[in-house]
Amino acid sequence: MLRNSILVTGGAGFIGSNFILNWLRAGSGGDAIVNVDNLTYAGNLENLEKISSDPRYTFAKGDIVDRRLIAEVLAQHAPRAIVHFAAESHVDRSIHGPDDFIRTNVNGTFSLLEESRAYWNELEGEKKRDFRFLHVSTDEVYGSLTADDPAFTETTAYAPNSPYSASKAASDHLVRAYHHTYGLPTLTTNCSNNYGPFQFPEKLIPLTILNALAGKPIPVYGDGKNVRDWLYVEDHCEAICAVLHHGRIGETYNIGGMNEKTNLEIVDSICSALDTMRPNDSVVPHSHLIKFVADRPGHDRRYAMDIGKIKAELGWTPRHSFETGIRETVEWYLANSAWIAGVTSGSYRQWMAKQYSL
Ligand code: NAD
Ligand code: DAU
Repeated sequence: MLRNSILVTGGAGFIGSNFILNWLRAGSGGDAIVNVDNLTYAGNLENLEKISSDPRYTFAKGDIVDRRLIAEVLAQHAPRAIVHFAAESHVDRSIHGPDDFIRTNVNGTFSLLEESRAYWNELEGEKKRDFRFLHVSTDEVYGSLTADDPAFTETTAYAPNSPYSASKAASDHLVRAYHHTYGLPTLTTNCSNNYGPFQFPEKLIPLTILNALAGKPIPVYGDGKNVRDWLYVEDHCEAICAVLHHGRIGETYNIGGMNEKTNLEIVDSICSALDTMRPNDSVVPHSHLIKFVADRPGHDRRYAMDIGKIKAELGWTPRHSFETGIRETVEWYLANSAWIAGVTSGSYRQWMAKQYSL
């Protein structure tokens, strides 16, 4: 049994793997990590290769819907906290096929909550007092803003618009109910769009980088003027640590980058970075590859996060500017062609053909 461990779900995905790498790099008081992930198309153990033989790290392949497995992992590792990342995370996939989103995001979170409640009920003393269940969620649960609306706060009414955001909203409500009804010591974070190393190239930023490098069309939905608030993934991981260690039980915390940009601004900034870094690519300027395509059904126009609460209570603000974050991200993709080759094989090609007819 590992002493002083935390259980991470979905740790082989984009944010989860960054979280584990940061956690072990920072030392984090000697806590070990147990990572439960069933390795869907988005889960990739290569992300964690650097720490795969670290004695503080254990991987348990498994599905969060599987209550027996969760109960066994909890009994075996006796974690002091759970940080729950595991989810189906891509809006476009939820439009094509919502089933997996309901299964993992709703039923999976329910299974995890039930087993956490049973585990926590048996704890005693300090171990019971200090246990935390941190649920990682999204700004998309709040719905869509117009250009002039104020940013989302923690008290903004939920109004999810896609099967993905509706499934995340359902999971947020379950977490809230388990605190309110059973006293489970929960924390919820709602974060804006992340970017950085290890992001699966179905999402706007890595998709743009990869298509631009390959001289393929860069698909921009609708008029390209939808706005997202972009945050470098390391900043998100630091915010989660701050909430885990100092957040008030039962509370939710908004996390964002204070960095609203239209999709066209994002794509343009990547294209200009590549014009400098890769002046000899087949199509330069890379922006000539931009192709406006049919809009995403139900496409939310704008997200923006008011991060006043986490700033005031926990002293967290993002450390990375978009300019440094995006440069580091582009450099990371340029330096990691083996990782890219690994994730862009068979099933990725099928997804691209289905979504973009590319
Ligand atoms: P991701 O899709 O990259 O990774 C998800 C991980 O969960 C994968 O490793 C996958 O194998 C695993 N997983 C999926 N279903 C599972 C199941 N049934 N059992 C066990 N493991 C399972 O996602 P991400 O972008 O890293 O997002 C992580 C979390 O953060 C999600 O809950 C997401 O809603 C939330 N979030 C993401 C963003 C973002 O911009 N990516 C922003 C805010 C919040
Ligand atoms: O806001 C937080 C959310 O951010 C997370 O909860 C989700 O898990 C994460 O996937 C992300 O959702 P988005 O839908 O905002 O991210 P995506 O990268 O898919 O799209 C960003 C914007 O870019 C969005 O307005 C749609 C647009 N887009 C996306 C793709 C993939 C395009 O114009 N073209 C594309 O090919």
